[in-house]
Amino acid sequence: MKKLGVLTSGGDAPGMNAAIRSVVRYGIYNNINVIGIKNGYKGLIDNESIEMNLSSVADIIHRGGTILGSARSKEFQEEEGLKKALNNIKYLGIDGMVVIGGDGTFRGAQQLCESGIPTIGIPGTIDNDLPYTQYTLGFFTALTTVLESVEKIRDTSSSHGRTNVIQVMGRNCGDIALYAGLAGGAEMVILPEVPYNIDEVCDKIMQGRARGKKHSIIILAEGAGEAKDISEKIREKTGVGTRYSVLGYTQRGGTPSAFDRLLGSQMGARAVELLKNSAENKLLGIRGNEIFDMDIEEALSKEKEFDLSTYELTKILSI
Ligand code: F6P
Repeated sequence: MKKLGVLTSGGDAPGMNAAIRSVVRYGIYNNINVIGIKNGYKGLIDNESIEMNLSSVADIIHRGGTILGSARSKEFQEEEGLKKALNNIKYLGIDGMVVIGGDGTFRGAQQLCESGIPTIGIPGTIDNDLPYTQYTLGFFTALTTVLESVEKIRDTSSSHGRTNVIQVMGRNCGDIALYAGLAGGAEMVILPEVPYNIDEVCDKIMQGRARGKKHSIIILAEGAGEAKDISEKIREKTGVGTRYSVLGYTQRGGTPSAFDRLLGSQMGARAVELLKNSAENKLLGIRGNEIFDMDIEEALSKEKEFDLSTYELTKILSI
């Protein structure tokens, strides 16, 4: 392994920069040249690359976003796009790739692997929707961002005796909503994984009010519905003052948490180590305190297990 390429693709996530820094510095430490590919697979097709050195990654470990830029590329999924990308990899003399991103990024990694380019994937997405790993880079930072907003919204909900529906990201996965619900002491979470009944939601709000609760916070995963619709239904059925907030892209930015910086640093080095030892076609993950690698085919064939015990606990603690 003389030269490797690194890219970030899909929705950016806090901690991606820590991973890039680690790939670059651990690579250089091992006498491997590192090429940064800009704007994900799109940059691979358009040959937008930059030779990385020690100072290219100085002062980035604490920054959100990704210094390499990111994109979602449809062209890479087509034969012509893949061909261009492979030609550029050859032209740049790249022997192996490290790709940082989520599910779409890893489908791209699979294509690279099938085309004979040794590739290692680092899970980076706020959604935490990858089935084979317990956590992804960016998830805990996004949770902290959500919690900061929940606390602020709770203050005003309490002053006005309102119910507030807070919509969070996650695509089809409810993990941000679920974990923010537990950590933020929400009255209720609404998730794509569990069907909900609006009458039950309203009953819960009214029971809380009967006990003297001043506010209700409902955390809604974007994959389960629209905050505006649900808050309107609650108002119609209960007569309680309702408001809604869609937290949006604040969840994707910001200073990465200590955990995301550590995870990015450890996984970046591990990815280089794997390529150096001629391992190929692996995704990195974490379970408990252990970082592991798994064959890409196996990892992508898994189905995400819903964390039922956390859901049950959230319900119990919000009585
Ligand atoms: O995958 C990360 C994510 O932020 C999802 O939570 C959200 O549904 C989606 O990306 C938004 O995508 P885009 O950046 O293309 O608007």
